[in-house]
Amino acid sequence: MYYPDELVEEVRMKNDIVDVVSGYVRLQKKGANHFGLCPFHNEKSPSFSVSGSKQMYYCFGCGAGGNVFTFIMNYENYSFAEAVKMLAERAGVDLPEMEYTEEVKKREGRRSRLLEVNKAAATYFYYQLRSPRGEVGYRYLAGRALSKETMQKFGLGFANGAGSDLVQYLRSKGYADDLIQDAGLAGFDERHGLHDKFWNRVMFPIQDINHRVIGFGGRVMGDAKPKYLNSQETMVFDKSRNLYGLNFARTSRQSNVILCEGYMDVIAMHQAGFTQAVASLGTAFTSGQASLLKRYAKEVLLAYDSDGAGVKAALRAIGILKETGLSGRVLRLDPYKDPDEFIKNMGADAFRERMEEAENSFFFELRILERDFDMTDPESKTSFHREIARKLCGFAEEVERDNYMQAVADRYHIGYGNLKKLVFSYAAQTGFASPAQRPKSGIARKKATPEENRKKSQRLLITWITEEPGIYPKVAKYVTPEDFTEELYRKVAERLFEGLSRREYNPAAIISMFTDEEEQREVAALFNTKLAELETKQEREKALHDIVYAVKKNSYEYYSARLGAEVSAINQVIAGKKALEELSKTHISLDE
Ligand code: GTP
Ligand code: MN
Repeated sequence: MYYPDELVEEVRMKNDIVDVVSGYVRLQKKGANHFGLCPFHNEKSPSFSVSGSKQMYYCFGCGAGGNVFTFIMNYENYSFAEAVKMLAERAGVDLPEMEYTEEVKKREGRRSRLLEVNKAAATYFYYQLRSPRGEVGYRYLAGRALSKETMQKFGLGFANGAGSDLVQYLRSKGYADDLIQDAGLAGFDERHGLHDKFWNRVMFPIQDINHRVIGFGGRVMGDAKPKYLNSQETMVFDKSRNLYGLNFARTSRQSNVILCEGYMDVIAMHQAGFTQAVASLGTAFTSGQASLLKRYAKEVLLAYDSDGAGVKAALRAIGILKETGLSGRVLRLDPYKDPDEFIKNMGADAFRERMEEAENSFFFELRILERDFDMTDPESKTSFHREIARKLCGFAEEVERDNYMQAVADRYHIGYGNLKKLVFSYAAQTGFASPAQRPKSGIARKKATPEENRKKSQRLLITWITEEPGIYPKVAKYVTPEDFTEELYRKVAERLFEGLSRREYNPAAIISMFTDEEEQREVAALFNTKLAELETKQEREKALHDIVYAVKKNSYEYYSARLGAEVSAINQVIAGKKALEELSKTHISLDE
């Protein structure tokens, strides 16, 4: 269910993109555009541009782009509807109540009540920690070398030992028993009635990326068991889709994320200046969490405990990262158990060194694997090599696989030729892995395929028209929206051409036609393809001619292949043939 188009457009027009982005990013005017450091990837020189005339932003570094809604969706991690709502409030536009079904209304109401009661509980714990009754908790945390500021930043609190103080407090604030219980803050039994779940523990509120408290972890102050008590999953607490510390880490502007095991690790890391540290929530790292991380970082540095359990967890996490298309490296923390202890004993500089030395995750896996084999026994050694070969088949891309084969051959003193043979004999049985999906902003750019080139000429043409709407009549003589054979491009061209034929020009509004973040990003890229800097009019005319020709030719071939299958294809083919003939004789003039 979405707001009406006109209203969305009104909200968009009342929120100047330069204004809005300036609230988050320091911008400087350069020519027609504003430039700043991209908030969506780590960079030292500004490639993030905001255009007041187009009302769009685009990063030439990472390809992030869109209109004012896309920006808010990406930055705040909001849905399209949430972004519209926020910007409507900012500009004082009244939105009608969304027409929710009764069921949705109830669900949303319940969600916000749960968030409210969590917030109230966090506030209560927070003040307890700073009251005389919480002194024991405060001393415990201070004893673990946390500063007052750090405790404040993470909203740490204290649940005292008396039976049901929190429940009493929340009731007094008007929260109903079933809500308190659903939030995981209290348990119920016949003898005690509703009673606090957490007592005599220091409390770690768990926040989502918008800093809303969604659950708690509570730690005993001594050696009692269980060491940590965590909230159960609720409507607002999905342990597989949130990460502890991500609310801070996502704006840390590092290209890497440090993934730890425990809350204390994250806090100690942040205190030492590594604000890109996060941890999973007392459960194993999941693929949902990996995709979340992928939005903010290219590389994950694993800082898991150095004990057996930690190594096992790291191996699992590596597999998940790989599936998600994130690269991972493993930090060595010895002789310490975890990042918290390492930092306390060795300090931040030493940790930074370990980050630089972090081991490629594939070699980490091999090193662990090696422990199971006896290298002095030829039989066992051979099995180890076989195992390596099997793992090498997991690299789908030939270049990458070959690089690894060479590195492995070197490191383990296996003849490269022998290893290669072994790998291929495995592949003959099972095949190589199919190409993994690469992150969109991945560094490894592949060579452009013919498919890519076809798309590119369509993109170039759309960008050129949005930069210079004046050329539209000349282009329209040869090209129609149907010539854009990519579905998304066609939709954009339809809207763009329709507007321009009425002398209306509004690219940012076109982006709002798409409510999905990925689509918005792609449309923005469409409007911001880098055009070659052409000096003379002659060069420009030649370039425009070639682009129009390429688009038309692709369309002609596309529809020719569909003759017989699609009735309307014949018209496109006839028109395409005619236009191509004409284009090969004429040149396009840029004169008025
Ligand atoms: P400290 O001992 O306080 O330094 O804790 P830590 O942050 O180093 O945690 P540890 O490495 O022992 O455990 C990692 C994470 O697993 C913790 O942050 C908790 O989320 C979770 N965890 C640890 N112990 C327990 C437990 O007894 N029960 C539950 N449910 N979770 C636990
Ligand atoms: Mn620890």
